[in-house]
Amino acid sequence: MARIVGGITTSHIPAIAMAMSNGLEKEPYWKRFFDGYEPVKAWLEKVDPDIAIVVYNDHGLNFFLDKIPTFAIGCANQYENADEGWGLQTLASFEGDAEFSWHLAESMINQDFDMTTCQEMLVDHGFIVPMALMWRHLPKWPVKGIPFAVNTVQHPLTSARRCLAAGRALRKAVESYPEDQKVVIFGTGGMSHQLQGERAGIINVDFDLQCMESIINNPEWLAGLSNTEIIEKAGTEGIEVIMWLVMRGALQEKVNVVHKHYHVPVSNTGAGVLVLENPD
Ligand code: DHB
Ligand code: FE
Repeated sequence: MARIVGGITTSHIPAIAMAMSNGLEKEPYWKRFFDGYEPVKAWLEKVDPDIAIVVYNDHGLNFFLDKIPTFAIGCANQYENADEGWGLQTLASFEGDAEFSWHLAESMINQDFDMTTCQEMLVDHGFIVPMALMWRHLPKWPVKGIPFAVNTVQHPLTSARRCLAAGRALRKAVESYPEDQKVVIFGTGGMSHQLQGERAGIINVDFDLQCMESIINNPEWLAGLSNTEIIEKAGTEGIEVIMWLVMRGALQEKVNVVHKHYHVPVSNTGAGVLVLENPD
């Protein structure tokens, strides 16, 4: 049986990949941020997962504003990395697992989550940056990757509560897969940020820390906020944090906190890292 070993929250901003490709990890601006990933990498090395399900939002690469599904899943055996113009270095293609993805899609749809299934999918920084933070891409990525896209870009968006419920359905989907696979789930994006408009640059440290606490111990709190409340507190792009609830919903009710780190700012955002482990 497939089982979920744990979940990770992480930023996905393109500046991280730029810093890595320019070897800036030890520079004063970046050091504390990257140091926050050392325990994550150590945990991943220990649990040695087979598959990472990456919950992220596409930023206009694979889906544009003319057509954008609320929930979509990659159902391919390979994903090409591309990005919509941040100048990221091209990394190795990602190996997928179409059979596993189709199982997830079917199970989610049977649980009333109408996933869009993508047999071809380009992945952008929302997917690439989290993978690159965790593993080296050469000679090949050590895990298979499954893109799980949530629309956080074009309104109307789904709700925080619906993301938590989608995570709970995802857990059932994974756990009903008959093959032995160790699965880790990434909730990416956030934290507070707004990239345009009058409030561009807003960061709300108190709200970010409340979100992290909620993800650990009380996901119902974040799930109970409306999108308007989240955007008021966290900025227009801060709404990305609802994707963390998909990851959290896929874990057990009580989780072990392996690692917790918050750093501000990276680019225009607060960056929160959590490693949450399923106790059994
Ligand atoms: C930044 C944040 C994002 O969520 C994104 O998708 C692109 C850039 C930033 O703060 O630089
Ligand atoms: Fe983003």
